[in-house]
Amino acid sequence: MAEILLVTSGKGGVGKSTVSLLTGAALAQRGKKVLLIEMDAGLGGLDIMLGVEDQTVFDLADVLKGRCEPIKAIMECPYQRGLSLLGAPRDTSCNLERKSLTFLCKGLTHYYDYIFIDAPAGLSCGFTVGAEICNRALVVVTPDPVAVRDGRVMSDLLDRSGITRQRLVINKVGKKFLGQKLFADLDEVIDAAGVQLIGVIPEDRELTACIGKGQPIDEAGRTGKVFAALAGRLMGEEIPLIVR
Ligand SMILES: Nc1ncnc2c1ncn2[C@@H]1O[C@H](COP(=O)(O)OP(=O)(O)OP(=O)(O)O)[C@@H](O)[C@H]1O
Ligand SMILES: [Mg+2]
Repeated sequence: MAEILLVTSGKGGVGKSTVSLLTGAALAQRGKKVLLIEMDAGLGGLDIMLGVEDQTVFDLADVLKGRCEPIKAIMECPYQRGLSLLGAPRDTSCNLERKSLTFLCKGLTHYYDYIFIDAPAGLSCGFTVGAEICNRALVVVTPDPVAVRDGRVMSDLLDRSGITRQRLVINKVGKKFLGQKLFADLDEVIDAAGVQLIGVIPEDRELTACIGKGQPIDEAGRTGKVFAALAGRLMGEEIPLIVR
């Protein structure tokens, strides 16, 4: 049975899709079967990031509306063996129907080890349903006060939904971070977010260049190793996290 992980943030653009993809890919590299479900109606991007933009015919809405079987819409991606995508509805006006979404996700747990729900930023049906069905949540922030405060809001909402298994991912941590003096250090970011840390992802311009073209990142590079460690921690391995 798959573990369902909701990837959420209050603020947009902090890296939810990137974190879903690269953590999912790292888990798949460890032999796990991973499904990414993208919930942003009309504004998805994982198909581009996975290099399957031209190959997807059906999407999440087609499955929910009964226009095709899930297997027709789920695409195993050449990006990484074992990593599959159920892409976001292309139609911006698509309302994800809560009951059928819950039914679908529960059914899919039989076929995967991990299901990532890449929710749109903030409050949305994707978030609400995700919070209802997930086993764990990753709250993604960047080290700036707005993203951190909004991350805390999402975390509080998750608490209210009974999701106590939450972990914080601080993304786009660059050299500028300390110079900006927005936070004294990463400990202050963690305290302000109020969620236990699971990963610190460096700001990496090459990452944007790679995933913008649907190409895998260098696994042996710094960012690749950080995601491998994050995947290991999700699998329950005790991998030290150095907060500098
Ligand atoms: N660690 C990083 N270093 C540099 N750029 C990054 C990093 N993580 C993500 N990005 C870039 O930031 C942008 C937004 O990332 P992404 O689409 O994953 O965010 P998102 O939270 O899913 O956005 P949305 O809220 O719109 O769904 C992308 O251009 C991505 O390549
Ligand atoms: Mg996204």
